[in-house]
Amino acid sequence: MVLFKNTAVGASALLAATGSATPVVHYPRAANSSAFTNSNGLKFTHFNQSLPNVTILATGGTIAGTSPDKTATADYESGALGINKLLNAIPEAFEIANVAAVQATNVGSGDVSSSLLLNLTHTLQTTVCDDPNMSGAVITHGTDTLEESAFFIDTTVNCGKPIVFVGSMRPSTALSADGPMNLLQAVTVAADEDSKDRGALVVLNDRIASAFFVTKTQANTVDTFKAMEMGNLGMIVSNEPYFFYPPVQPRAKTEIDVSGIDKIPRVDILYAYEDMQADLLYAAVEHGAKGIVIAGAGAGGVSSDFDTAINDIVKNKSIPVVKSHRTVNGEVPTSAITGDAAEYQIASGFLNPQQSRILLGLLLAEEKGVKEIQGVFEKAAAA
Ligand SMILES: *[C@@H]1O[C@H](CO)[C@@H](O)[C@H](O)[C@H]1NC(C)=O
Ligand SMILES: *[C@@H]1O[C@H](CO)[C@@H](O)[C@H](O)[C@H]1NC(C)=O
Ligand SMILES: *[C@@H]1O[C@H](CO)[C@@H](O)[C@H](O)[C@H]1NC(C)=O
Ligand SMILES: *[C@@H]1O[C@H](CO)[C@@H](O)[C@H](O)[C@H]1NC(C)=O
Ligand SMILES: *[C@@H]1O[C@H](CO)[C@@H](O)[C@H](O)[C@H]1NC(C)=O
Ligand SMILES: *[C@@H]1O[C@H](CO)[C@@H](O)[C@H](O)[C@H]1NC(C)=O
Repeated sequence: MVLFKNTAVGASALLAATGSATPVVHYPRAANSSAFTNSNGLKFTHFNQSLPNVTILATGGTIAGTSPDKTATADYESGALGINKLLNAIPEAFEIANVAAVQATNVGSGDVSSSLLLNLTHTLQTTVCDDPNMSGAVITHGTDTLEESAFFIDTTVNCGKPIVFVGSMRPSTALSADGPMNLLQAVTVAADEDSKDRGALVVLNDRIASAFFVTKTQANTVDTFKAMEMGNLGMIVSNEPYFFYPPVQPRAKTEIDVSGIDKIPRVDILYAYEDMQADLLYAAVEHGAKGIVIAGAGAGGVSSDFDTAINDIVKNKSIPVVKSHRTVNGEVPTSAITGDAAEYQIASGFLNPQQSRILLGLLLAEEKGVKEIQGVFEKAAAA
């Protein structure tokens, strides 16, 4: 049977038809709210003295994406809308927190750089960590590399306040767009006392995960972010966060202070496969890589030729090489690294290649030597 044939099927028509019309919510909701700019220049468009204060640093991504086609979930323009447009869809956020939105950039996550991540770290440190009036922060981000940025911030911002990463899998124009609910949930988690001391968090699809353990597992669907071995930290029901455990931090985590760092050296990832050739390794080094991560087969495996080349670059060129795994889960233990230059090579522990790349880059920025780098990665083997 065709419902609403030949009628304008707007929300009001549907509500009238189902007889459950609720009052239309007008933005802004709070009648007595007023604008406020704090001492760091964060602008709150609605301010209620008794609510927690949260800043949103918006970077773009699918959550800010648009398409003329409501069914498009793969071909659309990322980072098309500003954060204030996204907030317009969720007036409920202003009943949960005073929200100061900052447009840091507006790009697809493939264009997020370590320069931006350093800037976000410095901004979070001064405007959130160092201000006792601020409860937490939300970072909107494209989902493709969200886990990398979340891992970076988890490593570099550690003041106990929740830094919550959020994105969406469907652009804002899609039928059943997931962005508005995800963003509201992220603001709610950032404002929640119970979110403290858990490291950076990732909120999508009603789940709260640790930035240290979460990974994108599916290229297209909304149920994509998973912490496969370790599990989620909690979930959100009717916009109420539920944490399964008291606050805890991963044993494998290392915190790095980047206040004195303004550039991250280039680190490249090379993927292992049958017939893998060594010339790509030399090309990476020639083009300026100061460190290499191998997405090894199994527990760090590469071809014999490639291993000889690794020995050459670690011994003769002093370029550190981290062996990680191309499998979604698992670890590369130190014992998996053998051969005549084994003592110069680094096992990734439980860190995947993209996490290993970020950690290695940060350690190289700190000018750590290979033994110190090994020590940090050995900690990453302590799940
Ligand atoms: C301010 O927030 C408090 C706490 O949530 C709430 O009770 C109050 O109604 C809010 N005031 C306004 C004007 O919205
Ligand atoms: C609005 O806020 C002012 C100042 O905080 C307060 O005195 C007043 O009672 C509030 N009015 C309403 C309707 O909540
Ligand atoms: C929010 O910020 C205002 C002013 O900066 C402050 O007075 C208020 O206490 C803060 N709210 C919380 C819950 O910390
Ligand atoms: C980071 O901040 C510096 C200094 O303000 C600026 O020059 C640079 O463009 C910023 N980088 C990005 C990617 O926003
Ligand atoms: C925090 O808020 C109080 C007022 O509630 C204000 O006096 C103080 O200056 C604020 N602190 C900062 C760092 O803005
Ligand atoms: C290091 O360089 C020397 C001289 O080019 C070469 O003989 C040696 O095999 C290289 N070491 C490794 C581990 O490949």
